[in-house]
Amino acid sequence: MTELVQQSTPAATGDATRWWRDAVIYQIYVRSFADGNGDGIGDLLGVRSRLEYLSGLGVDAIWLTPFYTSPMADFGYDVADYRNVDPIFGSLGDAAALVRDAHRHGLRVIVDVVPNHTSDRHAWFQAAVQAGPGAPERARYVFRPGRGEQGELPPNDWESVFGGPAWTRLPDGEWYLHLFAPEQPDLDWENPEVHAEFEDVLRFWLDLGVDGFRIDVAHGMVKAAGLPDVGHADQVRMLGTEVLPYFDQDGVHEIHRAWRRLLDSYPGERIAVAEAWAPTIDRLARYVRPDETHQAFNFHYLTANWDAASFRAVIEESLATAGLVGAPSTWVLSNHDVKRHVTRYGGGELGLRRARAAALLTLALPGSAYVYQGEELGLPEVLDLPEEFLRDPQRLRAPEDGRDGCRVPIPWAHAEPPFGFSPLGIAQSWLPMPASWGPLSVEAQLRDPASMLALYREALRLRRELPGLGDGALTWLDSPAGTLAFARDGGFTCTVNLGPEPAAMPVPGELLLASAEVTVQGGAVRLPADCAAWWRSA
Ligand code: NOJ
Ligand code: CA
Repeated sequence: MTELVQQSTPAATGDATRWWRDAVIYQIYVRSFADGNGDGIGDLLGVRSRLEYLSGLGVDAIWLTPFYTSPMADFGYDVADYRNVDPIFGSLGDAAALVRDAHRHGLRVIVDVVPNHTSDRHAWFQAAVQAGPGAPERARYVFRPGRGEQGELPPNDWESVFGGPAWTRLPDGEWYLHLFAPEQPDLDWENPEVHAEFEDVLRFWLDLGVDGFRIDVAHGMVKAAGLPDVGHADQVRMLGTEVLPYFDQDGVHEIHRAWRRLLDSYPGERIAVAEAWAPTIDRLARYVRPDETHQAFNFHYLTANWDAASFRAVIEESLATAGLVGAPSTWVLSNHDVKRHVTRYGGGELGLRRARAAALLTLALPGSAYVYQGEELGLPEVLDLPEEFLRDPQRLRAPEDGRDGCRVPIPWAHAEPPFGFSPLGIAQSWLPMPASWGPLSVEAQLRDPASMLALYREALRLRRELPGLGDGALTWLDSPAGTLAFARDGGFTCTVNLGPEPAAMPVPGELLLASAEVTVQGGAVRLPADCAAWWRSA
C-alpha cells in the first residue's frame, strides 16, 4: 500500500493531560438507562448501580442528559430549576453521590446545560407572564407585540424546530419566542441577568464536581438584531446548511468565551462540548477555537451514507475543520435525537453488520468518540411503539420525525421485559421494550464472545492499549474501490469494506480485531462486505 495523504488534528501543547482530546464519552439518556426505584423510569440511582458496567466497557466519561427539575414537555430539555434534580430522577444528594462514585470508577462526568430556553414553569417565565407587557421580568425572554392590525399575527416568520410558528401569544396580547416547543420559551441573551444566572448555574455544578458540560443548542442563544424575517417557510430543512437569523450568530461566541474562562478557572480540565449546527466548515470550527468550547458534535459524520466515498469525504472534512483551530475531531453515530444507526444502515442483519464495522471505523479515527447507550448492544430503532406511548414533541413536525424509538430502555438481563431495566417484579417501563430483546441484553451478550458488546469491549480495550489510537494523525492508504484503509502512528492500520462485495487487499499486518470473519491467505486478506478490521502493522 502506498501512503497518500496525512491528516492530523495537532494536539495543542501546554497542558499535560488533555484527557478530552481522545476520550470515549458514553451518552446516558437517564430516563432510559436504568431504573433504580422501580417506577419504570430510569434515574440517577439506576446510573449509579451500573457504573461497574461502564468502567468494564472501557469508556472514559459519561454524559448525562438533563435530570433537572422539569415538567418534561421535552423530557428534561425544558428546565424549571437548573440547580435541582427532578424527583423522577432522584435528589441532589443522588447527583453528588453519582459524581463521586463515577470518579471512583475512573469515569468523568459531563452534564447537560440548556441555555437557549427554559421551561415555561421556570420561576422567571412564571414571573414574566404575571408581570405583564413592559415589565423587567419580560426582558429575560423574547417578548414582542404581534404584527397585523390587532397584533394578531406573530412578530416574524420564524418557525419552531418542532413544527409550527416559533411564537405563542399570551392572553394579554404579547407574543413570546420559542425555537422549540411552546413550553420552552427562549431566553434573551441581550440581558446581562441571563449571563449572570448561567455562570452561576455552571459554578453550581462545577462545585459539585462535574467535569464538564454538553451545551444544548450552543449556536442558538443570540438572535439577529431586529429579529428579521427568514423570508420563507420550511426552515427546519435548512438547519445547518444556511444562515438563519436565529442560529449561529456571531455574538454567541462571546458566551462560549466567557464560559471557557470560567471552566479554566477550575482545576482539572473541565470541558464544554457544543451541540452546534453551522452552515460551513469554518463556521463550525469557530465553536472549537482554543478559547471557546473543547469539542463540538460531528453531525455530518452521523449523517454520512454507507459508502466509502461519503465516509472518506466526511472524515477528511471533519479532520480539516478541527485542524483549522487545533481542536480534536469528534465522532458520533447515534444519539437520543436520531434514528439508531443499526436501523439507518439498513436494519436487521445488514444493519448490524454495518454497525459493527462502523464501530471499529469510528474508534480508530483521531479524536474523541461518543457512544450512545445501547449502541454497544446493537439495539435497533423501535419502529412499532404503540401510539399511546408516543409523546415526543417533535412528532408535531412530522410523525415519522418522532424520537421515541431511539429512547426505549436498555435491556440488562432476563428473558422478558423489562429485562432488568427496573428491579425484579416491576413489569412496565415508561416506553415498552420489544419482547424479542432478551438476546440483546447485557447479560446475554457478556456470555457471547461474538456479540456486539464483546466487540465494543475489545475495541475499547485495544484503544487504550495501542499508543497510536485516540488523538493524533491519520494517513490514508491506497485501497480498492468501495473500501477505506488508513494507518495511525505506532504501527496500526484500519481497513474497512463498505461495499456489498468482498474485497481483497494486501495483508497490512497482524490481525487484532475484526467486525466479521476475514480470511487471510498468502499475502492477501479477503474482507467480506460491510466489515472492518484492525491490524498491528510493522
Ligand atoms: C437538542 C436536544 O438534544 C434535543 O433532545 C432537544 O429537544 C433540543 N435540543 C431542544 O432543547
Ligand atoms: Ca425510577
